[in-house]
Amino acid sequence: MAAGWGEPGPAGPVTSALFGEPRVFTAQRRSENPGEGRLFSVPLCFLVLIVLYVLLCNQLCMQLCWKACLASRQPRESLWPTVPGSLHFQGYSSVPDGKPLVHRLCRRCALVSSSGQMLGSHWGPEIDGTECVLRMNQAPTAGYEADVGHRSTLRMVSHTSVPLLLRNQSYFFQQARDTVYVVWGPGKRMNRDQGGSTYRTLLKVKEMYPGVQLYTLTDHMMAYCDEVFQNETGKNRMKSGSFLSTGWFTMILAMELCEQIVVYGMVSDSYCREKSPPSVPYHYFEKGKLDECHTYLVHEKAPRGAHRFITEKAIFSRWAKKKPIIFTHPSWQSE
Ligand SMILES: *[C@@H]1O[C@H](CO)[C@@H](O)[C@H](O)[C@H]1NC(C)=O
Ligand SMILES: *[C@@H]1O[C@H](CO)[C@@H](O)[C@H](O)[C@H]1NC(C)=O
Repeated sequence: MAAGWGEPGPAGPVTSALFGEPRVFTAQRRSENPGEGRLFSVPLCFLVLIVLYVLLCNQLCMQLCWKACLASRQPRESLWPTVPGSLHFQGYSSVPDGKPLVHRLCRRCALVSSSGQMLGSHWGPEIDGTECVLRMNQAPTAGYEADVGHRSTLRMVSHTSVPLLLRNQSYFFQQARDTVYVVWGPGKRMNRDQGGSTYRTLLKVKEMYPGVQLYTLTDHMMAYCDEVFQNETGKNRMKSGSFLSTGWFTMILAMELCEQIVVYGMVSDSYCREKSPPSVPYHYFEKGKLDECHTYLVHEKAPRGAHRFITEKAIFSRWAKKKPIIFTHPSWQSE
């Protein structure tokens, strides 16, 4: 019903019948037989009101008509609390017992980058209004709420950033223990049997803060992420002297976890090569240190030990053609 009323076809004739004919009709009748006129005009007025109500509800989304609005505008959001059971994500295993990550499917995720593009964006409220909010590493929210929001459903953390989380343990592992932490790193560091150094640190964190939800990527998932890079670029990640970025691991996880991904603060692959892009910090929380585009361009060319931020963005852009991925602020479309 809702869809039919919204279409221009039926709305046209209905509106003209409402505003044109009844006036003529009542005027004629009143002069002949006032009693009969009243008899007809009461149900007619009632009908007019109902039709007006339905039409206005669909077009203006008035508060009084919240039910109609919910049904017509946000069928998915209004359904999500009733989504059946949680899913098992086999590529991520918990510390220390190795069980897969269990999480409900997110209808919509905000993937919040750590880029300086976030500064002054005022996206905070929209990000906080999204079902699942994904962040990276230690990217703070305190003091930046207006631009980045404050909720964190999940953080993808590089093994190199674990010490940075430890600097503010009481916040990350106590106050923010609703957040799921997923740590990626090379096998040597993450090895569970031989006690890789990062893994041992994570074990201690779990002992100190038993409530913390801590996961690592399985070896298989790490290899899968390399394989995706190789398939997309034709280059072997290791031989080409590069490391995957935390953004890469986050996007791969998001494509499994989320039905729709809204990416905040990620520029396109061509952005830094366009004429004089504005200078923003590499990280929104590290002003006056690195410049974003400078960092991306240096890394793209470096023969080894670098992240291929620009290559990765070109790949995300290709994926966005086939998958529900939207780039917001700066907003861009995959070509
Ligand atoms: C820890 O994080 C909280 C929330 O982000 C912040 O308010 C506080 O200043 C941080 N403390 C330190 C020592 O960084
Ligand atoms: C990579 O490409 C190979 C060959 O086409 C394919 O068998 C494999 O499944 C792909 N791997 C991934 C992770 O997409």
